[in-house]
Amino acid sequence: MTPNETTIPEPENLLRGNEKYLDNALRPSTWGDYIGQEIIKENLKILLTAAKARGQTPEHVLFYGPPGLGKTTLAHLLAKENGSELKVTSGPAIEKVGDLASLLTNLSPGDILFIDEIHRLNKLIEEVLYPAMESGNLNIIIGKGPSARTIQLDLPPFTLIAATTRIALLSSPLRSRFSGGTFRLEFYTDSEIENIIARSAEILDTEIEKDAVKEIAKRSRFTPRIANHLLKRCRDFAQVNNTDITLDTVFKTLKLMSIDEAGLSYSDRKILDVIINKFSGGPVGLGTIGAATSEEEETIEEINEPYLIQLGFLERTPRGRVATKKAYEHLGLMFPKIL
Ligand code: ADE
Repeated sequence: MTPNETTIPEPENLLRGNEKYLDNALRPSTWGDYIGQEIIKENLKILLTAAKARGQTPEHVLFYGPPGLGKTTLAHLLAKENGSELKVTSGPAIEKVGDLASLLTNLSPGDILFIDEIHRLNKLIEEVLYPAMESGNLNIIIGKGPSARTIQLDLPPFTLIAATTRIALLSSPLRSRFSGGTFRLEFYTDSEIENIIARSAEILDTEIEKDAVKEIAKRSRFTPRIANHLLKRCRDFAQVNNTDITLDTVFKTLKLMSIDEAGLSYSDRKILDVIINKFSGGPVGLGTIGAATSEEEETIEEINEPYLIQLGFLERTPRGRVATKKAYEHLGLMFPKIL
């Protein structure tokens, strides 16, 4: 096809081109495909194998850590490797006790229920979840006042997998019920991210140069979701410009996306800039940073800070956030001798 020729995409191709479908295609479906998080994988394999040998469902597990590191992917993988059906929901989607009751009573024996963002589950619903997790009982109160009574339903054996980016917001009674284990997902190494990018490029049937893989990895915030996102944007850029993904493609695409050579976004740089230029490098409270940058505090805490801390650009102290010497240097600013 010449560069000017156009074709009308088949509906099937349009569907395949949708990010959501692409993300599913990139999701590893066997332990062997899943790169990184080696210790967690070893623990989960033992949990599954031992439960299977006993003819039981695996115990409940909790995953936590910054977004994009593969909590949902691990839940899908666990279900697949266990031959179980995965039912997916999230903390904010379960608004009433009845919503949870309906989810639980619709489970078949051996199903896995995945609750994402479990820190957003309301306390009344948590209370209903405890006996369901511990002894497979669902206690529901019918009626109000003196005539109210509790009915108890037996649930089929199931495994709960929960995920959160905010472990500190989980009550300790809830945390203690994940008897299969609580696992913290770690940032990936550069070489793991490079392997993920190379694997994804192959699935997307996209030619990519080795140094382009390295450059995308370097700017991916040690996070597979971001690596795949950047890869897809570079692939678009390469396609539009009729080339493979070269180092030059990566430089140009990421420049368009305002992502710098350390992987910092515009908002990361704004946060550092505010701390340094408006508050003399800190310490400054999260609320103040939020107000000065017009960013949500929750977003700063969940998305920006973990990466800035991981890079050593930011420190959290009891009196607030402090920009480090490395942050000054990255922004091309002089680090003051006396703070
Ligand atoms: N895609 C997203 N996360 C991945 C991982 N950990 N391994 C392989 N491919 C991935």
